[in-house]
Amino acid sequence: MSLVLDDTAAAFLAAANPDQSPLLAEMTEYGETQGFPTVGPDAGQFLRVVATLASAQRIFEFGSGFGYSAAWFLGALPADGEIVLTDYDEENLDEAREFLGRADHETDVHFEAGDALETFERYDGPFDVIFLDHDKERYVDAFEQAVADLSPGGVVVADNMMAGPVETGDVTATLDGAPAPDDMTEGIAAYVEHVRDHPEFETAFVPLGEGVAVSVHRES
Ligand SMILES: C[S@@+](CC[C@H](N)C(=O)[O-])C[C@H]1O[C@@H](n2cnc3c(N)ncnc32)[C@H](O)[C@@H]1O
Repeated sequence: MSLVLDDTAAAFLAAANPDQSPLLAEMTEYGETQGFPTVGPDAGQFLRVVATLASAQRIFEFGSGFGYSAAWFLGALPADGEIVLTDYDEENLDEAREFLGRADHETDVHFEAGDALETFERYDGPFDVIFLDHDKERYVDAFEQAVADLSPGGVVVADNMMAGPVETGDVTATLDGAPAPDDMTEGIAAYVEHVRDHPEFETAFVPLGEGVAVSVHRES
């Protein structure tokens, strides 16, 4: 079930998208049975396309959970590529290690426990794709940090623009000037305005999964 799209659009995506690999299908089901907030398969396929379009070699994730979004990215990374997973929760990363250890890839995968922003500061850039899926209140800070270490033409993707810990209508009302009902909605609305108005980025909001923002760094 999509939290954003109506049943007709969701059924279209279910019929049109490529079949998930057995491992991804297992991870999708695991996320659903555990009630873990993954990006889901529609946004996962989109992340893979974004990484492919960006010819990504290096990807950094802020908030990786049990490795679901990373498993989608892995399908777009070359053997000499690299992806960094971060999470506060060591148990999530142990699960990610187990799942991604079974994926068919030769990409260099790093599992970093602790605060994503602190981990990001320890890594040298540039990254071609940076994915934000951690504290919604800290997206703008993470974006500003990410910009400094993004390749020319690199992409920042952020999840939960429209659903998950926020309601689409609340984000819309906040963007229209109403007081935000909570910190997460305030964080997401601030992020929408920040990337929309950023002179160095071109951004699109895509209503797949829980709504993703894709912000491409202009190369000029
Ligand atoms: C929505 S889940 C990530 C889901 C994952 N990207 C996926 O699609 O499967 C958010 C994760 O971010 C982690 N998290 C939240 N704030 C964080 C922070 N500041 N640093 C590192 N991890 C954080 C949480 O522990 C949680 O596992």
